[in-house]
Amino acid sequence: MEKMPFRDADPMLDVQAVMDAANSVTASDWRKALPVMKGSTVTLRDLRLSDAPSLLTMLATEEVARFISPPPTTVEGFERFIAWAHRERAAGNYICFAIVLDGTDTAVGLFQVRQLEPGWGTAEWGFALGSAYWGSGAFIDGARLVVDFSFGTVGVHRLEARAAVQNGRGNGALRKVGAVQEGVLRKSFLRNGEYLDQVLWTIVDEDWRQARAVVTVKVH
Ligand SMILES: CC(C)(COP(=O)(O)OP(=O)(O)OC[C@H]1O[C@@H](n2cnc3c(N)ncnc32)[C@H](O)[C@@H]1OP(=O)(O)O)[C@@H](O)C(=O)NCCC(=O)NCCS
Repeated sequence: MEKMPFRDADPMLDVQAVMDAANSVTASDWRKALPVMKGSTVTLRDLRLSDAPSLLTMLATEEVARFISPPPTTVEGFERFIAWAHRERAAGNYICFAIVLDGTDTAVGLFQVRQLEPGWGTAEWGFALGSAYWGSGAFIDGARLVVDFSFGTVGVHRLEARAAVQNGRGNGALRKVGAVQEGVLRKSFLRNGEYLDQVLWTIVDEDWRQARAVVTVKVH
């Protein structure tokens, strides 16, 4: 997550085109618009420009941003980020889901996935959630949807994540979702003028399918 782009780019506010595409999307059309995915407590959906104010409130806080690439600091900055995310999704490079809690339509966080090589064989994911919702179960619920989507629909076979060694919750969250710690990337993330070590976590599609199969068998 640490280097996942919170890109402050020029706006391209083609709202109607995004909404039209979202209304007709199927999962495999994700470049046109992301599918709406329902978990047990959260829904993941494409970003909307109108999410900018709530994302600013949720993510531009010291505790959320401490160990990640600095998020935008204004509503306009988030609008530019959302427009950039739509363009990068349309180009097939990047996916960003808004996290919405059941019974609301307010974006309280993000899951991002980007390709690390053409064709999406290896990808990197990252996430951030408003601190009011930490420990609520929203993370793990949404994370399972995103990992399923990455392996099942996008065609990823290796999903990487990087978390600063000092980021207790980030590392705890990745461990909880079943990621495997592969090593430490020394002094690999520049934050506030200091190079931090990062833990490299991975999930590979075979392990994920096996773990999910075990869960399914246990449930039935
Ligand atoms: C990362 C994030 C999305 C996770 O969501 P969350 O709701 O906090 O995650 P959860 O509470 O479900 O899981 C975190 C786990 O880490 C554990 N944890 C918390 N602090 C910890 C610490 N200092 N050391 C180790 N584990 C810790 C929690 O106990 C929890 O495990 P448990 O449910 O088994 O008790 C959220 O914390 C966040 O947005 N953080 C700021 C942005 C960020 O750092 N993103 C991740 C970059 S890799």
